[in-house]
Amino acid sequence: MRKTIITAAAAILLLGALPVRADEGMWLPCLISQRIEDMQAKGFKLDAEDIYSINKASLKDAVVLFGSGCTGEVVSPDGLIFTNHHCGYSFIQRHSSVEHDYLKDGFWAMDRSEELPNPGLSVSFLERMEDVTDIVLKGGDVRANCRALEKEAAKDGAGLRARVEPLYHANRYYLFVYREYRDIRLVGAPPSSIGKFGGDTDNWMWPRHTGDFAIFRIYADKDGNPAEYSADNVPYTPKNYLKINRKGVQPGDFTMVFGFPGRTNEYAHSAEVGYTQDISDPMKIDIRTQRLAIQKKYMAQEQKIRIQYSAKSATIANGWKKWQGEVGGLRRNGILERKKAFETGFEKWAKGTAYEGLTDRIAAAYDALVPARFTRELYQETAAAFELGNFAGNVFNALKKDGTVNGDGFFKNWYEPVDRECFIVEMTEFGKRIPEGRAPAYYTAQMKKYGSAEAWADALFKKTLFTSNEKVNALTAKDTARVKKDPVYVFASEFSTWAAEITPEYAKRNAALAPLMKEYMKAQMEYQPEKDFYPDANLTLRVAYGKVQGYRPSDAIDYYPVSTLKGIIEKDNPEIFDYNIPQLLRDIYAEGGHDGQPVCFLATNHTTGGNSGSPVLDAGGNLVGINFDRVWEGTMSDLAFDPSFCRNISLDVRYLLFVIENIGKATRLIDEMTFVE
Ligand code: ARG
Ligand code: GLU
Repeated sequence: MRKTIITAAAAILLLGALPVRADEGMWLPCLISQRIEDMQAKGFKLDAEDIYSINKASLKDAVVLFGSGCTGEVVSPDGLIFTNHHCGYSFIQRHSSVEHDYLKDGFWAMDRSEELPNPGLSVSFLERMEDVTDIVLKGGDVRANCRALEKEAAKDGAGLRARVEPLYHANRYYLFVYREYRDIRLVGAPPSSIGKFGGDTDNWMWPRHTGDFAIFRIYADKDGNPAEYSADNVPYTPKNYLKINRKGVQPGDFTMVFGFPGRTNEYAHSAEVGYTQDISDPMKIDIRTQRLAIQKKYMAQEQKIRIQYSAKSATIANGWKKWQGEVGGLRRNGILERKKAFETGFEKWAKGTAYEGLTDRIAAAYDALVPARFTRELYQETAAAFELGNFAGNVFNALKKDGTVNGDGFFKNWYEPVDRECFIVEMTEFGKRIPEGRAPAYYTAQMKKYGSAEAWADALFKKTLFTSNEKVNALTAKDTARVKKDPVYVFASEFSTWAAEITPEYAKRNAALAPLMKEYMKAQMEYQPEKDFYPDANLTLRVAYGKVQGYRPSDAIDYYPVSTLKGIIEKDNPEIFDYNIPQLLRDIYAEGGHDGQPVCFLATNHTTGGNSGSPVLDAGGNLVGINFDRVWEGTMSDLAFDPSFCRNISLDVRYLLFVIENIGKATRLIDEMTFVE
């Protein structure tokens, strides 16, 4: 009995300290030598220099930042790259029309001349990264030092781009030098009924069966240098490309994810956790629940409305679902209490040092920050979400700039009853939730005048010209005065002026918190000298490693970590949009022999948004999967990683090959890949 009590107490202490546990971490590639022994102990067969090297081609030379917030990987000597379907989605959409609906039917270039250019899309390779902390801090002008370093690093070489980024809450600074390629062509994409199979129903969930991939190719000038699109450009010969493991993975196998995670906050104060789980996430979830219900109601009524709102709804639902998982995970794991216990231990240690009272000072800085931060977030979820209001602002700007405006694009995807009912929700919730004394005078006056958000909506929609495509298209420069008086324009401009006025307060409060968090980060590293600290994600290249493993989402349910084609057939239902697979896939399955075809797998790698499209590598550094999601019971990993719930979801590369061969019939692509047996 006594022994149990001691063990429990020790366990609480350990939990309180939130040490880096199995498989947690997003490690810097240039410092991977510090992790390589642990990686090798877990099965990895290569060396640190194979992952990141500036002397020879290494795995990092096959990984790209895709667009502005995804990852991709090079898989052939001719610059072929894989990423997620949802990362390529907007580009596939831009090439789509009623005659060629590539989103719906998929797209396969049958030879290189059919590969489609994508203005605005770029991919960036990391050339090198380097700790420049001493140079940045010299003399005290951090900003000027950073700009000078960036300028110097990018000065010779086509497409070079350099950024100095703070790491460890600005205790360190690293220089990142990228080479950016700008002629990126679409090569292949499965139909959405494969690439987005399961839609928002399955999003953030396991069991998952999404074939979430798209294929692009990097083009360069004749010397292999980055260049704007030109018909004369040629496929780029990369420094390195990934070989593909066709044998795939088994439960327990080592996996490594190499990509660009966007943002995490692992060393946060309990005030951040409390704000997220008790204030911010619940507000966003509640309001989005109501907006989504309105969209869903109308989308179910008519095909046209479903198309109008499917992309908008998907974006709203993606965050909405993630935050629910996050709140659930934070609560279930008692993260707030653990953080508080950690702070108590920290303060005991800090007594008599310069750090004494630091956690209280941070708590006070949060108290000062929260009203402005919450007000901004509430604005984003309410007034700034009013579609017609945003449109009015854009129309006014276009009129001022060009003297003419065309609203067709807006009206194609807008349905008045949806926006009107959402407006009522947005304004009602705004009034209920805005901190005392912070509402704009305009809002208070309108609510007083009309008595309710419903009556206000009636008046707005009756008087505005912005609900009419015809009236909007007829506007000329002479009408700016009239537009300025339109009640919807007034709404948008009053709210945005008010929101802009919060910015200085918000910036000031954040600026007060930042040095305290910098100090706290440094102090935590001194407090736990035995712990390996990885820097929070900031869209710079990282290595995560773990293994293929399922999890137990709740009592008596065990998730197996590999899904198969059989599961797609089980979900298949022509009546349900998210589960209606292509007839060709049904036919292929009916031929038999494909039951065991792997589709997706779970692993314990620590990932976040931005890791979409990241290569998932086996122990030999060969491609086995493409990361595209996390399970929602584990989305609290942005604040606290829990090894029993946090799993990343990857597309099995064997399903990708299966789709290329059987659905795309694009064997020319398979021919340029290299396979390891
Ligand atoms: N949850 C994934 C991510 O955060 C995929 C989102 C795209 N898929 C979707 N069904 N909305 O980006
Ligand atoms: N789907 C996410 C992305 O686009 C990855 C999911 C996550 O881990 O947040 O980056």
